[in-house]
Amino acid sequence: MSNSLQTPYYTTEHGSTYLGNSLELLKSIDDCSIDLICTSPPFALLRQKSYGNVEAAEYVEWFMQFAREFKRVIKPEGSIVIDIGGTWIKGQPTRSLYHYELVLRLCKPEDAGGCGLNLAQELFWYNPAKLPTPAEWVTVRRVRVKDAVNTVWWLSPAINPKASNRRVLKPYSDAQKNLMKNGYKAKLRPSEHQISTKFNIDNGGAIPSTLIPDADFENQIGAPVNLIAASNTSSMDVYQRRCREEGIKAHPARFPHALPEFIINLCTEEGDTVLDPFAGSNTTGAVAERLKRKWIAFELNEDYLRGSQFRFPELDPNQDKEFLADIKAKKNGHKNGVTPKKEQGQLFLTSNNGN
Ligand SMILES: C[S@@+](CC[C@H](N)C(=O)[O-])C[C@H]1O[C@@H](n2cnc3c(N)ncnc32)[C@H](O)[C@@H]1O
Repeated sequence: MSNSLQTPYYTTEHGSTYLGNSLELLKSIDDCSIDLICTSPPFALLRQKSYGNVEAAEYVEWFMQFAREFKRVIKPEGSIVIDIGGTWIKGQPTRSLYHYELVLRLCKPEDAGGCGLNLAQELFWYNPAKLPTPAEWVTVRRVRVKDAVNTVWWLSPAINPKASNRRVLKPYSDAQKNLMKNGYKAKLRPSEHQISTKFNIDNGGAIPSTLIPDADFENQIGAPVNLIAASNTSSMDVYQRRCREEGIKAHPARFPHALPEFIINLCTEEGDTVLDPFAGSNTTGAVAERLKRKWIAFELNEDYLRGSQFRFPELDPNQDKEFLADIKAKKNGHKNGVTPKKEQGQLFLTSNNGN
C-alpha cells in the first residue's frame, strides 16, 4: 500500500485522478506496482500549446526525471507506452530528432545514464486530421508534405513484456475470408517466403500491425498494421459537447479513444493497473474504466481535470438523462460504483501483487 497524503480529485469504480505535478505524485506509488503506463507527455513543439512545452534541446533531460520514476513503479514485465509527436527544427524544413534521442536514452543501460528499458515495438498513430504545419514549408512553399503520424514507443524493463495480440484482433479482410472458405495451396511467394496451409485456419481475427486505426480511418489504410489511425477532433463526442455547454476549454491535444484502447487491450488484462502521469482530459482513465482495468491519472492543470469528469457520465449530474439511461443499459446491470468526489478512504490503487 502507498502512504500518500493526497486526496483524489475524483474517483470512479475502477480508478482515481490526482491534481498535481506527477514528479511528486509518482513518489507515492509503490515500487513494481503498475502493469502499464500509457501516456502522452507534453511534446517539444515549435508552437507552444497552452499547457506549456519544453524546448526540444532540453527535452530528454526533462523527461528522464519522470522516466526514472516510471522505471521504479512499473512491474518487471509491465509496459511503458509513450505517444510522442515529432517536430521541426526552427526556421528550416528539417525534422528534429528529439523523440529518437529520447528513445535511445531510455534504452541505454542505467549505468550509462539511461533507464535500461527495451523497445518492444514502435507503433504509429495515424492522425489524418493534423494541420498542415509548418505552413511555411507545407502550404506556402509546398516543399514538404502534411505530417500525419505520431510515434508511439512501446518500452519495457523486460525483453518479453506481458502482451497478447489475441486481445486486439481485427476482423478478417474479405480476401482472407475467401481464402479460408475456398482453401489455399501452400506455395513460395515472389518474396521467397513459404506460405503454408496454416494460412487457411480461422484464428478468430486478423493480427493487427503497428498502425493503430480508428474505425473512421480503417478503410483508408487497408489491412490493419502497427499504425493507430484516429483523429482527436470528433465534434460528436460527449466530452467536447459538455465542455462547450459548461464553458470549459476542451483539452487541445487529446488522445483518440482508439489509442489507449489498443494499448490497454494489448498489454493488460481485467483487474490490471494502468497509470497515465500526464492525463490531460483523462482519455486513458475513461477507456481503462470501460475495460475494467484499475487506473490512476495525474494532471497538473485543474481545468483539464474538471472537464475530464464529463468522460464519466456518473460524475456529471447535468449529463442528459437519455444519454445516462443509455450508458446504464449498456453497462448491462453493472452497478454504478462511482464514489462522490473526496469521500474515498483509499488513496492509490495497489495491484494484486504490488509490494
Ligand atoms: C499531451 S497532453 C495529454 C493529453 C491526454 N492524453 C488526453 O487525452 O487528454 C499532456 C498533459 O500533461 C500535463 N502535464 C505537463 N506536465 C505535467 C506534470 N509535471 N505533471 C502532471 N501533468 C503534467 C499537461 O497539463 C497536459 O494536459
